[in-house]
Amino acid sequence: MKTGFRELAPGGAKVTVRFEGRALALTEGDNLAAALLAAGVMPFRRTPVSGAPRAPFCMMGACFDCLVVIDGVSRQACMTEVSAGLEITMAKGARDA
Ligand code: FES
Repeated sequence: MKTGFRELAPGGAKVTVRFEGRALALTEGDNLAAALLAAGVMPFRRTPVSGAPRAPFCMMGACFDCLVVIDGVSRQACMTEVSAGLEITMAKGARDA
């Protein structure tokens, strides 16, 4: 999917991460939410009640619309750096208490 986002400073070392099983070459150390948007990932999650699609909004850790599951742990993509081998899936359903 084309999102209209792009890397500001392309040329850094690329590493492979997976989003929903799709291999993506992202720049190591970049902000994960920004890198996923630039790679065309949309949406990042769906709401537990209506299933409405969500994607990053605030990019500063406040809204949780960038919530994804990384290596089995729910995390905010905008508060995470790209590193090699991340296994990322969409956050689905209500969080376990
Ligand atoms: S985009 Fe709002 S918390 Fe990540």
